Amino acid sequence: MDMNNLFPDSSSLSDKMKTAGFSELVKAIEGMLNMHLSSYKEDYIKRRLLSRMNSTRTTSYRDYHQYLLSTPEEKEKLRNALTINVTKFFRDLGVFDLVRKEIFPEILNKKQNLHLWSAGCSSGEEPYTYAIILYELNKLKRSGSVITATDIDDTILKKAKEGIYEKTALENMQEAQISRHFTLLEDGRYSIKPHIREMVRFSHHDLMKGVPVSRFNDVVSCRNVTIYFNEDQKRNLIRLIYEGLVDGGYYIMGMSEYLARDMDMYFTPYRPMLKVFKKTEKKF
Ligand SMILES: C[S@@+](CC[C@H](N)C(=O)[O-])C[C@H]1O[C@@H](n2cnc3c(N)ncnc32)[C@H](O)[C@@H]1O
Repeated sequence: MDMNNLFPDSSSLSDKMKTAGFSELVKAIEGMLNMHLSSYKEDYIKRRLLSRMNSTRTTSYRDYHQYLLSTPEEKEKLRNALTINVTKFFRDLGVFDLVRKEIFPEILNKKQNLHLWSAGCSSGEEPYTYAIILYELNKLKRSGSVITATDIDDTILKKAKEGIYEKTALENMQEAQISRHFTLLEDGRYSIKPHIREMVRFSHHDLMKGVPVSRFNDVVSCRNVTIYFNEDQKRNLIRLIYEGLVDGGYYIMGMSEYLARDMDMYFTPYRPMLKVFKKTEKKF
């Protein structure tokens, strides 16, 4: 459905009419999906809702609200629409090259075990990428390193734990590396091998709740998640990541993300072009 069909002459409708039933719907979704939608950007929520309204041929927020209440299978479809889970292995090669050549070796020079938190990990490609790098750097030693991977979406976490992927998710990897770490299944998909799977612990965590999973991470990778957050939420997230890192720890963000305004005191640019920062020593 396009916006013009929904609001045939939007200029003649009052803003109130255009959003009739919106806040009730948001409230209902928050309860139903156990998500903090009120903290997401309103435009973003509206765009995602319109895409579901388009698919379900409902023509107003109230209509869609009714549909949602009466159609059990719509709940998961809506959750997926609200938490777009696009990701792949070695997404942004330059970043993972830096991790392999500088960041992990620097940390492992100082200590035996490394602690990394992949926050907003989606279906697991990101934390498994770090595990592959760590394994390849460290394979002769028994590694006690910990990779914690979290997401708000339980359906996607289930997929992450299964660790089965289409070939397209692996397109940034060399064939030799794929056969080292994946088993090709009969249906043409790839299953991550146990030596990598075992290095990652997955759990449910909502970044909007303001508490890090631990305070002892050497690296926090929180990439392509803040597109859902408004400015205040981004600020809270920066503080949360700061609290979740050891002194001098690394914060790796997505290539199109930026440090929220006035938050540069928390982090010093390490490789700003690759969106990698270091935790600043507390002077504030
Ligand atoms: C686009 S994916 C990013 C995946 C991966 N980090 C990457 O960059 O390839 C965004 C993920 O953030 C998760 N997410 C959105 N809001 C969240 C929140 N409040 N707490 C935790 N995860 C959240 C979504 O469920 C989704 O899996």
